[in-house]
Amino acid sequence: MNRLAVLISGTGTNLQAIIDACESGALPDTRVVVVVSNRIAAYGLQRAKKHGIPTLYHPFKPYRDAGRTREEYDADLAAKLAPYRVDLVCLAGWMHVFTMAFLKHYPWRVINIHPALPGMFPGTHAIERAYEAYRRGEITHTGVMVHYAPDEGVDVGPVIVQREVPIYPEDTLETLEARIHEVEHVLYIEAIKKVLGLE
Ligand code: GRF
Repeated sequence: MNRLAVLISGTGTNLQAIIDACESGALPDTRVVVVVSNRIAAYGLQRAKKHGIPTLYHPFKPYRDAGRTREEYDADLAAKLAPYRVDLVCLAGWMHVFTMAFLKHYPWRVINIHPALPGMFPGTHAIERAYEAYRRGEITHTGVMVHYAPDEGVDVGPVIVQREVPIYPEDTLETLEARIHEVEHVLYIEAIKKVLGLE
């Protein structure tokens, strides 16, 4: 049995796609054993509960307020996660950049999904920035990638899978976002299969 942790900060539609793939057998012999959020209001936490998946809430604010470091926060999360004996950590809208204090516990076992092609729009608001670049005539398409997160880089790391997503003249930001999310939900499953050798 492959044991996944999914780390979220928001809506959790990618989390939902992963849970559904585990339940349907699209991801054979695999299940989400814990969902972690750094935001209490993250809707993804409700999704996890609906499927009977344990959740961990690990906010950074108490650390910052106490003058404690990101390394301490990361080390504590690694310790909280240890009992779940996780094979793969899937970042799915997780808005926190890990230090090695977390990453050293999961070498080549942390992967991230980003709604842009490698090197294109790292960081937040990637879809919006791609849409604006298209309107300025700078790009014709954008994309989605899933990559390893081996170090402290933001939305960089060896790419596992990537897919182009076209942008059309009649697109609004909303229609482009919807098209990208659809691709994400398929691509994340492909990436997990690849990393776990399920193909
Ligand atoms: C996705 O677009 C993902 O690529 C990015 O954050 C978003 C999370 O969406 N890293 P959701 O919470 O999975 O719906």
